[in-house]
Amino acid sequence: MSENIQAIRGMHDILPDHTPVWQHFETIVLRVMAAYGYREIRLPIVEKTELFQRSIGEVTDIVEKEMYTFADRNGDSLTLRPEGTAGCLRACLEHGLMHNQIHRLWYGGPMFRHERPQKGRYRQFHQIGVEAYGMPGPDIDAELIFLCRRLWSELGIAPKLELQLNSLGTLEERLVYRQHLVAYLRQHFAQLDEDSRRRLETNPLRILDSKNPALSSVIEEAPALRDHLGEESRRHFDGLKDALERAGIAYTVNPRLVRGLDYYGKTVFEWVTDELGAQGTVCAGGRYDGLVEQLGGRGSAAIGFALGIERLIDLMGEQAAVREAAQPHAYLIRVGDDAEIPGAQLAENLRSELPELRLIANCGGGSFKSQFKRADRSGAALALILGHDEVRDGSIGVKALRQEGEQRTLSQSELATYLKPLLKL
Ligand code: HAM
Repeated sequence: MSENIQAIRGMHDILPDHTPVWQHFETIVLRVMAAYGYREIRLPIVEKTELFQRSIGEVTDIVEKEMYTFADRNGDSLTLRPEGTAGCLRACLEHGLMHNQIHRLWYGGPMFRHERPQKGRYRQFHQIGVEAYGMPGPDIDAELIFLCRRLWSELGIAPKLELQLNSLGTLEERLVYRQHLVAYLRQHFAQLDEDSRRRLETNPLRILDSKNPALSSVIEEAPALRDHLGEESRRHFDGLKDALERAGIAYTVNPRLVRGLDYYGKTVFEWVTDELGAQGTVCAGGRYDGLVEQLGGRGSAAIGFALGIERLIDLMGEQAAVREAAQPHAYLIRVGDDAEIPGAQLAENLRSELPELRLIANCGGGSFKSQFKRADRSGAALALILGHDEVRDGSIGVKALRQEGEQRTLSQSELATYLKPLLKL
């Protein structure tokens, strides 16, 4: 016998028992996006490799070691998107949506990173991303955070999440700061681990983000970026903090929050939880005004975030009510050959009369007993029973599957009227 083929490590199936929670999540996302005027954009999953190299940054973990890159048949280097910001901006530049315009956009779908899989960290994972273009002030930074907060409260997880903020200043401010930071870290070179020594040359700000406890005192004493922010960056950050305070949104300023992608400047933020172990960041983003020019557009303001759907669904926990609400209302048992066609017609008529009805019609035959077992296993609230006698009389048997009670016999013509209030349709 040949061996079963299995899914790729870190890439998971979402089985039908779990899809109702995903759909519930997606319904809430749709509603909240519409409530703030964000419009959906759908983007390809594959882009030219160069797009990610130029935007995320050559010396980031994602570009250095995590991308799924392959040669197309004509030799072009292509990459499965590791994130959505670059592709979204590419699309808007390509279609002339960027210049002197304001857009509020969102997208969703799978992203791919060749990371070491563990709970909450996958090689194919799913994000909802939001990008807002053309608005340079802190009002839009605050709006994105309001939107997140509304999402968390609709998903029932608001108390589990904490907002962390930082400002990375402008590119010029970061370059000056970088010199100070590198000079300081060189003085403490002996205390740095291998990873940080390598980053000292390539991406020293990322050292601040190190999880190695041996580095914590060096990092704590390091010069702070906030002392190198210019007037404008400072005002922008203060404007955001003020808007959050007035809206009653608690936050912590985390000077070590630097993000793993190079395109950010000024505001960066993350929503974190301590309920998911090491992978506690469920949503992250920030401002990336500089990227528009870097990808060939004229200077424009841009800010966005992306949330990790797997992590959020994990945080939502067991959603018994959501799963229950997705179960069929009724299962039509049809016993004997002469119930087949009338049963199919009855099912079609019911679906037309009651568009919200979730009705499974038995297929594949079977004795009354085996069909009844299938009805029970389907999770349906009711079994509808159509046999030889019912076909002859134009009647239908109705039996509750989840509670006690005798089977009733009704006329088929009154079935829809009977089911509507019973099933709250
Ligand atoms: P990111 O921080 O790389 O940002 O990812 C955003 C979120 O995606 C993370 O906070 C996490 O919840 C989820 N995530 C990332 N990697 C994985 C993984 N391997 N497995 C499971 N979940 C994961 C971005 O992707 C930026 N594009 C966000 C952004 C949009 N910035 C501006 N606009």
